[in-house]
This record gives sequence, C-alpha cells and structure tokens, in this order.
Amino acid sequence: MTATPPTEHNLRLYIETVGCQMNMLDSELVVGALGKQGYTLTDDAKQADTILLNTCSVREHAEHKIYSQLGRLKHIHRQRPNVVVGVMGCMAQKDQKQIFRRAPHVDLVVGTGQLAEIPRLIEEARHDRKRKLAVSLGRRDGSVQAVSTSFQSYDPLREPQMRPSPWQAFVRIMIGCDKFCTYCVVPTTRGPEQSRPPSDIAREIEVLTDQGVREVTLLGQTVNSYKHTEGGRLFRLADLLELIHDSPGIDRIKFVTNYPRDMGDDLLTAMRDLPKIAHYLHVPLQSGCDDVLKAMKRGYTVAQYREMMHRIRDCMPDCAVSSDFIVGHPGETEEAFERSMDAVREFRFKNNFVFKYSPRPGTKAHELLPDDVSEQDKRRRNNAMLDLSNEICEEDNAEFIGRNVEVLVEGLSKATIKSADPKPPGSAPADSPTGPLQLVGRTRCDRIVVFDGNPRLAGNLAQITIDDATATTLIGRIVTRELQHESPGLLPILG
Ligand code: SAH
Ligand code: SF4
Ligand code: F3S
Repeated sequence: MTATPPTEHNLRLYIETVGCQMNMLDSELVVGALGKQGYTLTDDAKQADTILLNTCSVREHAEHKIYSQLGRLKHIHRQRPNVVVGVMGCMAQKDQKQIFRRAPHVDLVVGTGQLAEIPRLIEEARHDRKRKLAVSLGRRDGSVQAVSTSFQSYDPLREPQMRPSPWQAFVRIMIGCDKFCTYCVVPTTRGPEQSRPPSDIAREIEVLTDQGVREVTLLGQTVNSYKHTEGGRLFRLADLLELIHDSPGIDRIKFVTNYPRDMGDDLLTAMRDLPKIAHYLHVPLQSGCDDVLKAMKRGYTVAQYREMMHRIRDCMPDCAVSSDFIVGHPGETEEAFERSMDAVREFRFKNNFVFKYSPRPGTKAHELLPDDVSEQDKRRRNNAMLDLSNEICEEDNAEFIGRNVEVLVEGLSKATIKSADPKPPGSAPADSPTGPLQLVGRTRCDRIVVFDGNPRLAGNLAQITIDDATATTLIGRIVTRELQHESPGLLPILG
C-alpha cells in the first residue's frame, strides 16, 4: 500500500533545534513560513511529512547529536515514502555534501544563508525526489562582496502565533562574524558580518509591538559591532537603541552577544540613560591568561578586559555581566587555567557558560595548534570552574535578600509547568486559575526571580520583595503590581 501524498492542507512538520538564539529565531521563522503553506507542527517525527533538523557546529558534541538523530531517522523513507528530511543551519553550511554521504536518506541540506528557500526546496524534493543542496560560498571562494551576497539574512515579518512567547521576541540586527577567533567555526557557518538597516529593524519591532511584544532581544554574534550607514548617518548599536527605545509598548530591550573590544562608551552611556535597556551585558572573556587569549586571537588582554569592566561598573554600578570560558584550549597549562579561575573570582560574573575546547575542522586552531589538554583535564577544569562560579553567584544573589526588585513577568515557572502539564505555548489562560501559581520573571539586570502570582501578570512589570536566593534564582513575593497590558495567554516556556 502506498501512502497518500500529502496535500497542502494536511502537512505535518517536525523540527528540532540545537545551538544558539540565532538558530531558535531561524527555526521560528521557518516554521512561520511553512505555517503559511498549510503545515502544522507535530512533536512526533514518525507522523511528520517533513522533518527538519536545525543544526549547530560550534562543538563536536552538537554535531554528534545531529548525526545520531539522523541515524535514528534512517528507516523513515521506507515507512513514509513521501517524507522529506532536511538538515538546515550551521552544520549544513559547514558539512554540505558530506551530510548526504553520511546520511543518504537526507533530502535537503540548506545553509544559514538560504533559509528563505526552504518551502520551495521541500516541495521540489517531494515531487522530484532529488536531493537539494543550497549553501553559501566559502569565506575564500569569492570576493568579499560575492561571499556576503551569498549569505542572505532571513527576516520575514512574523506571525504572532509562531512565537514561543507572545510578549518576547528575538530580533536579528546583524548576521555573520569577522572576528575569526582561532577556535571558532561561526565565521564559516554564518559568513561575513553584515548589519541590517536600522529602518528595517525599527519596522520589524513596530510590527512585533502591534502583536503584543513587550521585550525584544537584539541578536548578533558580536552585537555591539553593529554598524550601518543609512540616510548619510552612521548608526552604531547605541544609535540603534536610541532609535527603537521609544517604540510604544516596549518595556525592555536586551542584546546579545557582546565583543569586549567593541564596548564603546557611547553604548554604556545609552544603556545608563535609556530606562528600558536591560542592565545586563553578556561579554565573554574566554580565558584569564594573556597567552591563551593571544592563541585564540581574541584581540584583547586581561588588563584591557579589566579596564572595560571598570568602565561598565563606573557607568552602571548595578549592571550584571556574564561570560563564556573555554577550558582546555591548546596550550592552556594548569597555571593558565588558574588565571581563568582568578578572573572568575575578580569579575564575579552573573553567570558563566563554561565549555571544554573542541577542535573544529576548518578553524586555525585545528590546523595549527595541537589539542594538547587531555579530556580528563578538560573535564576537571570545567567542573572546578562551574563550582567556583556557582559559589560566587550564590553569594552575589544572597545580596538581594530583603531588597525590592522590578521584574518583567515571563509566565509560569518551570516547576509549575511540570506539575500542571499545561496547554501548549500560546494557548489561552485558564478562565479562573485556582489561586496563585509560581511565576517567573527577570529583573532589569537579567536575574531570574520566582514568586507566586496570577498568570495574567505575564507580560507586565511587577515589584517583588526577595526573601531567598540560590546560585541561579531569586525567590520572592509580590509587593505591588501594575497591570499595564491585558495578558493574551499563558507563557509556559521559561524559568
Ligand atoms: N559570538 C559569541 C559566541 C559564539 S559561540 C561570542 O563571540 O562570544 C558561543 C561560545 O561557544 C563561545 O563564546 C565560546 O565560549 C564557545 N566556543 C566556540 N567555539 C568553541 C570550540 N571550538 N570549543 C569549545 N567552545 C567553543
Ligand atoms: Fe566565534 Fe569569535 Fe566570532 Fe564569537 S567573536 S562568533 S567566538 S569568531
Ligand atoms: Fe552554533 Fe551556529 Fe549558533 S554554530 S552557536 S548555531 S551560530
């Protein structure tokens, strides 16, 4: 018996996303585009007509996960001959045809610069059953102009129902990266740094706020390197923040990820003076040892990073700063690792993302530097740094006990969601919730706060008194509340 070919009206899409916020946004946009073609989402790959894996190449482990998932999907064509399996995103751009070789049942390989083509490619593949490869040029495969053009930013206007949260949205302000840190694959997978025009960004935010969005997070691999000339005027990130700050309906604006060398005083002053900008900077140090920073080609020394931290804290004493660290980078001795531990002690990051060095083919570090720290040492350093970071975060969070903070309420906390097994994101709130539930929100300095309250507070600012704290969370209760916006639905995704 042959399966009935799917029609435009009963198509089911299964999508899995790994990687950073850029990938989360890309998936949201692709789901939106396919939704317009009549697709509905399913969380069961076996039921799907189209299976998409949105991939990350930043560490080997992320790629392994995708190849093992592809292995599990091997028999899918035998059971459902019309199914289309697609690999999109960073690994698609990096591995290209190799993916067909390692996983012959894959129909589509679509890089980060071709996402707009996905709906058409899926339809073509379903009809002609031929493999489709759509990727951008390699960084050395053409002029800067040609390579840049081959990476198209994908920013269609969005359908509100496709967002995981009704009042929070990511907005891409730039694509690519030109920093070429020696360990990093992103300049290859995302292409040259290109900033979007400020007027396009402002228009997108206007549409989002009309749809009820209260918080936007601006995205870029090095978001504070943003620059675009429009109407004869050069816009840097500070100017863009000023431009969008007064968009009606917006309560909070965040931006990630920052690059230490591009942390200008204009940006810090804008953050200080514009009340809706979060006092939060994710600005990865990566290592506390100058020799390692040099091998990484990060372009700054620890002393220069320290000078930047002083400028941040002089300008905004309450500003939280978080970091990424790589442990076990080639050449990282015990001594060098101890310098990173010293930096964690000195800078007291709000949180710290610690990664074990993973050699990435195609990067300078992989070509030139031996992976000379054992897996055992990497694991030990990773755990030691996480333990130290936790200790520091717990101490710093304890400082909040007894204080009042303003939080932007995000919705039900993870604990509530687990115990209540609520409806999917975006579904309507219960008509009469039975008493207060545990909610989650974030302070202006991006600290997570849980407290009991009515789920209808989601999307609003609330004043909370902090009673207790852990390394990751402040625990409090509502003191007053200002309900400015009627909540369109539950927000059961964050915590
Ligand atoms: N654009 C951001 C981060 C991009 S990747 C920035 O420049 O900060 C996210 C994090 O992954 C990096 O900050 C780095 O800590 C880590 N990372 C990148 N390449 C890695 C590799 N080869 N091995 C281990 N961690 C890596
Ligand atoms: Fe990678 Fe460095 Fe660019 Fe960040 S700045 S994306 S770590 S190359
Ligand atoms: Fe991964 Fe690509 Fe993001 S490599 S971290 S998904 S930019």
